[in-house]
Amino acid sequence: MTLLKLDIYAVRNIQQQTIIPSPGINFIVGENASGKSAVIEAIFILGRAKSFRSTTIKPVINFAHNHLIVSAQTVQANGSIAHLGIQLDVKDFCCRINQQTIQKRSDLAYALPLQIIHPKSYELLDAGPQLRREFLDWGVFNNDEDFLPAWRNFKKALSQRNSLLKAKRPAYINVWDKELIYYGTIVNSFRQRYLQKFKPIFIEIINQFLEIDDTEIKLISGWDTSIEFHQVLTEDLEKDLRYGFTHSGPHRGDFQLLVKNRLAKDFVSRGQLKLLVMSLKLAQVQLLTNERSNMGCFLIDDFSAELDVTNRAKLLQYLNKMECQVFITATQKSDFGNLSQIKNYKMFHVEHGNIKQV
Ligand SMILES: Nc1ncnc2c1ncn2[C@@H]1O[C@H](COP(=O)(O)OP(=O)(O)OP(=O)(O)O)[C@@H](O)[C@H]1O
Ligand SMILES: [Mg+2]
Repeated sequence: MTLLKLDIYAVRNIQQQTIIPSPGINFIVGENASGKSAVIEAIFILGRAKSFRSTTIKPVINFAHNHLIVSAQTVQANGSIAHLGIQLDVKDFCCRINQQTIQKRSDLAYALPLQIIHPKSYELLDAGPQLRREFLDWGVFNNDEDFLPAWRNFKKALSQRNSLLKAKRPAYINVWDKELIYYGTIVNSFRQRYLQKFKPIFIEIINQFLEIDDTEIKLISGWDTSIEFHQVLTEDLEKDLRYGFTHSGPHRGDFQLLVKNRLAKDFVSRGQLKLLVMSLKLAQVQLLTNERSNMGCFLIDDFSAELDVTNRAKLLQYLNKMECQVFITATQKSDFGNLSQIKNYKMFHVEHGNIKQV
């Protein structure tokens, strides 16, 4: 997947702009508050139907408008051209692929798989399990299209079970337990299989950026897998009824990144933590690119804030080799270093929400 043409309407200080990006690396420069992150945010919205820096869409929509639109002409993995578009206002969203309205955001995510590094990305390893679960499931979701229906069926069973727990009606719970156990086990094994494929790629990337060995990624299933899932549910029932929700299952899933048997976040420096997060994200896109050629779009907001000079050069070399479209922002062109080895790149300058190719 590659963006051939991108149209942005009413995203932050961008009123209406069109760019024709390179299929390789796109550098975006501009002073503070020029609208660089807004460009990255617009692309992110097209693939994920949400912002990466605001929890609601309202602050993202330009003050003078009541909705935003991002659309693009793309080349899909099979070589076909697809038109993607999303319109968002405070309450509603509307997505289109080739002029057809689609109901599920996941269709957009399949059509435009993207990964991002931004100044708060280190939270992936620092904050609670939700972000890591989302990260893991993004990988699984793009790796195997059977994952999403299993996950949806699991969530349905979970919400029905939780309603019964809240209503204190234990007699009906076992109807949903069957579904919960069946789909929950499937979801967990999808995650397990994905991590097996992911690990060697991740380790190879870490070796290029960090002098750390003895790194391990461990799946947290969300229940004690030395016992059968149904037995865990039986043992938890009293607690589940008391609190009105299901304590164990893949909805509590997570992964741990260990360095020398200690949690990475408690052990490595802040800079190393950022590099580990970067490596996790690169590994996901690399795996995607290995398995489906020409897939994935990589976004990096605030390049120089994230990495030192040596690692910036290494990352650019890595991205240059990887068959994937990249968008990177910085306040100065010199932050990108020497670009003589970078093939097929484009440079854009942003000023007051206007984007021009230089
Ligand atoms: N809803 C909005 N409507 C109009 N302008 C907005 C809106 N939200 C933010 N802005 C403004 O848009 C401008 C661009 O913001 P953006 O975060 O994209 O800048 P940036 O180029 O990434 O800056 P920095 O280098 O500081 O990261 C800022 O001046 C910001 O105040
Ligand atoms: Mg910014």
